Amino acid sequence: MRAYTTRRVQPRPPSQSCSELTRWMGVGDANVTGNVHGGTILKLCDEVAGIAAIRHSGCRVVTAGMDRMTFLHPVSVGNLVTVRASVNAAWRTSMEVGVRVESENVRTREVRHTSTAYLTMVALDEEGRPTEIPAVAPGTEVEERRRREAQIRRDNRLSERDALVHGRA
Ligand SMILES: CC(C)(COP(=O)(O)OP(=O)(O)OC[C@H]1O[C@@H](n2cnc3c(N)ncnc32)[C@H](O)[C@@H]1OP(=O)(O)O)[C@@H](O)C(=O)NCCC(=O)NCCS
Repeated sequence: MRAYTTRRVQPRPPSQSCSELTRWMGVGDANVTGNVHGGTILKLCDEVAGIAAIRHSGCRVVTAGMDRMTFLHPVSVGNLVTVRASVNAAWRTSMEVGVRVESENVRTREVRHTSTAYLTMVALDEEGRPTEIPAVAPGTEVEERRRREAQIRRDNRLSERDALVHGRA
């Protein structure tokens, strides 16, 4: 762990970090069969998660990691893709952002939940050091469940990292 800066920060509800981006998928986003690259969706998730993390922390942020990216359905050229993000939980300098991806067939208006992703973003101060961020104050049962599940994912991540380090020692 490196030195981090502290600030006087008030808890914030997830509703204050809600962020949304919509993009129309073109041929440049897809492979030869017309299916959109997973990487295109990942980039959109990273962008919207960054916006949510900046809204929550009021700082610039970097992506420390991404896990649990599932693709439930293919996305096709011509679909409208919407990514929605909010901060599920915040710790000392890092936060978990949950992202829901939906794709819409514009002609039929059919909307499908295509992916869910969880990203860890770290807030940085002006010198590029990790900096303290506000806690998350859940306002609803769903927000409380998201915070609880984010804590489980963080605990699993840290215990996996410790197990790997001990395994090498
Ligand atoms: C993320 C980064 C700032 C962490 O720096 P660090 O020196 O490890 O700092 P710390 O050990 O103090 O960790 C800071 C926080 O990041 C978290 N963190 C660090 N590495 C992580 C990882 N791989 N996954 C999830 N969280 C991580 C820590 O748990 C800590 O969180 P906490 O303060 O809430 O407990 C640093 O690794 C970095 O700059 N990485 C490159 C980020 C980047 O460029 N992303 C763009 C994609 S290429």
